[in-house]
Amino acid sequence: MKMHRSEKIWLTLSFGMIIGFMLITGYQTFALEMGPPSHKERIDPQKVDEIAPFDNPGITQIGDKEYEVVMTLQIFSFNPGNIEIPAGSTVHFTMTSKDVTHGFQVAGTNLNAMVMPGYIQKITQTFDEPGEYLVLCNEYCGAGHQAMATKIIVK
Ligand code: CUA
Repeated sequence: MKMHRSEKIWLTLSFGMIIGFMLITGYQTFALEMGPPSHKERIDPQKVDEIAPFDNPGITQIGDKEYEVVMTLQIFSFNPGNIEIPAGSTVHFTMTSKDVTHGFQVAGTNLNAMVMPGYIQKITQTFDEPGEYLVLCNEYCGAGHQAMATKIIVK
Protein backbone atom coordinates (compact mmCIF):
# COMPACT_ATOMS: atom_id res chain seq x y z
CA MET A 1 0.00 0.00 0.00
CA LYS A 2 1.34 3.35 -0.97
CA MET A 3 0.82 6.18 1.43
CA HIS A 4 1.30 9.85 1.01
CA ARG A 5 3.95 11.32 3.26
CA SER A 6 1.55 13.76 4.95
CA GLU A 7 -0.84 10.86 5.60
CA LYS A 8 1.91 9.01 7.42
CA ILE A 9 2.69 12.08 9.49
CA TRP A 10 -0.98 12.53 10.51
CA LEU A 11 -1.36 8.83 11.31
CA THR A 12 1.78 8.87 13.46
CA LEU A 13 0.63 12.03 15.25
CA SER A 14 -2.88 10.62 15.89
CA PHE A 15 -1.66 7.30 17.28
CA GLY A 16 1.01 9.11 19.24
CA MET A 17 -1.63 11.30 20.88
CA ILE A 18 -3.84 8.30 21.78
CA ILE A 19 -0.92 6.43 23.30
CA GLY A 20 0.19 9.62 25.09
CA PHE A 21 -3.24 10.12 26.67
CA MET A 22 -3.40 6.47 27.72
CA LEU A 23 0.01 6.73 29.36
CA ILE A 24 -1.02 9.91 31.23
CA THR A 25 -4.30 8.35 32.43
CA GLY A 26 -2.51 5.14 33.41
CA TYR A 27 0.16 7.08 35.31
CA GLN A 28 -2.50 9.10 37.19
CA THR A 29 -4.53 6.02 38.08
CA PHE A 30 -1.80 3.62 39.10
CA ALA A 31 1.16 5.75 40.13
CA LEU A 32 -0.67 8.74 41.67
CA GLU A 33 -3.67 6.59 42.75
CA MET A 34 -6.19 9.06 41.39
CA GLY A 35 -9.25 6.82 41.32
CA PRO A 36 -12.87 7.92 41.87
CA PRO A 37 -13.57 9.01 45.50
CA SER A 38 -15.72 6.00 46.31
CA HIS A 39 -12.87 3.73 45.26
CA LYS A 40 -10.66 4.67 48.18
CA GLU A 41 -12.07 2.83 51.16
CA ARG A 42 -13.44 -0.67 51.05
CA ILE A 43 -15.54 -2.49 53.61
CA ASP A 44 -16.84 -6.03 53.96
CA PRO A 45 -20.57 -5.61 53.17
CA GLN A 46 -21.43 -8.69 55.26
CA LYS A 47 -19.97 -7.12 58.42
CA VAL A 48 -21.09 -3.48 58.14
CA ASP A 49 -22.83 -3.68 61.55
CA GLU A 50 -19.59 -4.68 63.26
CA ILE A 51 -17.23 -2.20 61.58
CA ALA A 52 -16.75 1.37 62.88
CA PRO A 53 -18.20 3.86 62.24
CA PHE A 54 -21.14 1.89 60.79
CA ASP A 55 -21.64 -0.07 64.02
CA ASN A 56 -23.14 3.18 65.35
CA PRO A 57 -24.96 5.05 62.56
CA GLY A 58 -26.37 8.48 63.41
CA ILE A 59 -25.79 12.22 63.50
CA THR A 60 -22.91 13.76 65.44
CA GLN A 61 -22.18 17.45 65.84
CA ILE A 62 -18.48 17.92 65.15
CA GLY A 63 -18.26 21.70 65.14
CA ASP A 64 -20.15 24.97 64.91
CA LYS A 65 -22.88 24.18 62.38
CA GLU A 66 -20.93 21.13 61.25
CA TYR A 67 -22.28 17.61 61.46
CA GLU A 68 -21.21 14.14 60.57
CA VAL A 69 -23.83 11.67 59.42
CA VAL A 70 -22.86 8.00 59.39
CA MET A 71 -25.48 6.23 57.35
CA THR A 72 -26.19 2.72 56.18
CA LEU A 73 -28.45 2.07 53.22
CA GLN A 74 -30.33 -1.20 52.98
CA ILE A 75 -33.47 -2.50 51.35
CA PHE A 76 -35.53 -0.29 51.63
CA SER A 77 -34.40 2.34 54.11
CA PHE A 78 -31.87 4.95 55.13
CA ASN A 79 -30.45 4.64 58.66
CA PRO A 80 -30.67 7.21 60.18
CA GLY A 81 -33.73 8.71 58.52
CA ASN A 82 -35.42 12.07 59.10
CA ILE A 83 -32.21 13.95 59.83
CA GLU A 84 -32.73 17.31 61.54
CA ILE A 85 -30.16 20.08 61.32
CA PRO A 86 -30.15 23.87 61.74
CA ALA A 87 -30.01 26.05 58.61
CA GLY A 88 -26.49 26.85 57.44
CA SER A 89 -25.11 23.49 58.57
CA THR A 90 -22.45 21.63 56.69
CA VAL A 91 -23.01 17.90 56.74
CA HIS A 92 -20.38 15.28 55.99
CA PHE A 93 -22.08 12.08 54.93
CA THR A 94 -20.26 8.76 55.28
CA MET A 95 -22.32 5.99 53.74
CA THR A 96 -22.25 2.37 52.74
CA SER A 97 -24.73 -0.24 51.60
CA LYS A 98 -25.48 -3.44 53.48
CA ASP A 99 -26.86 -5.30 50.49
CA VAL A 100 -27.24 -4.00 46.94
CA THR A 101 -26.42 -0.76 45.14
CA HIS A 102 -28.57 2.15 46.30
CA GLY A 103 -28.72 5.81 45.39
CA PHE A 104 -28.61 8.86 47.66
CA GLN A 105 -30.22 11.81 45.95
CA VAL A 106 -31.39 14.91 47.81
CA ALA A 107 -34.06 16.81 45.87
CA GLY A 108 -33.39 20.52 45.49
CA THR A 109 -29.61 20.14 45.90
CA ASN A 110 -26.92 18.72 43.68
CA LEU A 111 -26.30 15.88 46.14
CA ASN A 112 -26.41 12.65 44.22
CA ALA A 113 -24.29 9.66 45.11
CA MET A 114 -24.21 5.98 44.30
CA VAL A 115 -23.82 3.85 47.40
CA MET A 116 -22.42 0.43 46.65
CA PRO A 117 -21.91 -2.58 48.89
CA GLY A 118 -18.23 -2.99 49.68
CA TYR A 119 -17.39 0.70 49.33
CA ILE A 120 -17.53 3.72 51.59
CA GLN A 121 -19.04 6.81 49.99
CA LYS A 122 -18.23 10.26 51.38
CA ILE A 123 -19.94 13.47 50.35
CA THR A 124 -20.30 16.91 51.94
CA GLN A 125 -23.12 19.41 51.57
CA THR A 126 -24.09 22.73 53.18
CA PHE A 127 -27.82 23.31 53.74
CA ASP A 128 -28.49 27.06 53.80
CA GLU A 129 -32.21 27.15 52.99
CA PRO A 130 -34.63 25.92 55.69
CA GLY A 131 -37.13 23.32 54.54
CA GLU A 132 -37.79 19.65 54.14
CA TYR A 133 -35.53 17.96 51.63
CA LEU A 134 -36.70 14.72 50.12
CA VAL A 135 -34.03 12.01 50.07
CA LEU A 136 -34.54 9.35 47.42
CA CYS A 137 -32.93 6.14 46.33
CA ASN A 138 -32.38 6.50 42.61
CA GLU A 139 -30.85 3.12 41.86
CA TYR A 140 -33.32 0.28 41.31
CA CYS A 141 -32.75 -1.99 44.31
CA GLY A 142 -35.73 -4.33 44.41
CA ALA A 143 -39.49 -4.59 44.89
CA GLY A 144 -39.63 -1.79 47.48
CA HIS A 145 -37.33 0.60 45.63
CA GLN A 146 -40.03 3.24 45.03
CA ALA A 147 -40.72 3.36 48.79
CA MET A 148 -37.09 3.95 49.73
CA ALA A 149 -37.09 7.58 50.82
CA THR A 150 -36.56 9.77 53.85
CA LYS A 151 -36.15 13.46 54.71
CA ILE A 152 -33.55 15.98 55.77
CA ILE A 153 -35.25 18.67 57.82
CA VAL A 154 -33.42 22.01 57.87
CA LYS A 155 -34.75 24.36 60.55
CU1 CUA B 1 -32.54 1.53 47.33
CU2 CUA B 1 -33.62 1.80 45.21
